[in-house]
Amino acid sequence: MVDKIKIENLSCYYNKKCVLEFLNLNVVKNEILGVIGPANSGKTTFLRTLNRMNDFDATYSKKGSVYLDDDDILDIDVETLRRRVGMLFAMPIPLPMSIYDNITYAPKRLGFVTKKIDLDNMVESVLRNVSLWDEVKDRLCVSAVKMSGGQQQRLCIARVLAINPEVILFDEPCSGLDPISTAKIEELMIGLKEKYTIVLVTNNVKQASRVSDRTAFFLMGKLIEVDKTGKLFVSPKKKETEDYITGRFG
Ligand SMILES: Nc1ncnc2c1ncn2[C@@H]1O[C@H](COP(=O)(O)OP(=O)(O)O)[C@@H](O)[C@H]1O
Ligand SMILES: [Mg+2]
Repeated sequence: MVDKIKIENLSCYYNKKCVLEFLNLNVVKNEILGVIGPANSGKTTFLRTLNRMNDFDATYSKKGSVYLDDDDILDIDVETLRRRVGMLFAMPIPLPMSIYDNITYAPKRLGFVTKKIDLDNMVESVLRNVSLWDEVKDRLCVSAVKMSGGQQQRLCIARVLAINPEVILFDEPCSGLDPISTAKIEELMIGLKEKYTIVLVTNNVKQASRVSDRTAFFLMGKLIEVDKTGKLFVSPKKKETEDYITGRFG
């Protein structure tokens, strides 16, 4: 097992207030690492630290290190890092343009796919990867904001795939979706781990138990426990973990 990401002694602060404390954790290549925990436990801060999304927040600071394939992320150009570590949010936010243009926008801007035929092939390939091709192949020119919420979220995943990431960070990707759309995204994430390394933050404990290979439990800025998902849910080591997964608080 190879570590794709290593987090060493990471503490994060907003206005000097510590919101994530002395975190040591790794993300194994091609696994889905689930991250669960009540609101304000630092889950989003954790994700945003992994691709330096917080760099422009002047109130934010951090101590400790994050390595991507053994390179300190501070030594990786930010634009390159964000391409290698893609991120998805709770609310899908497609650009106000066609389905086709949504997918080709970033690859064109970054200049790594330019020919029409290559763009067409790429659009088909990523839409197939997110099981959206059959639903939208006849209306690629239609505005993306006309799609259903679940379709928009799958389109946003397709957009991330179009820039060829190595890691995908999901921040509560199903929180606005109905159970059927949620099931489709979960199935999709399980398929994606063959090629990508995934960190899934979810407010849905059952979702973590369904899709994650390992699960980490965060509480008030601390990693309480991380283990193989089957183990963490059947025999957690810590009382706090047990209370949370059995719904006794949070
Ligand atoms: N941009 C910010 N500025 C100041 N405080 C923040 C900011 N973002 C998050 N926080 C605080 O940091 C803590 C952790 O938040 P967050 O990482 O969003 O947790 P979670 O995703 O688990 O709900 C919370 O107390 C939250 O209020
Ligand atoms: Mg959050």
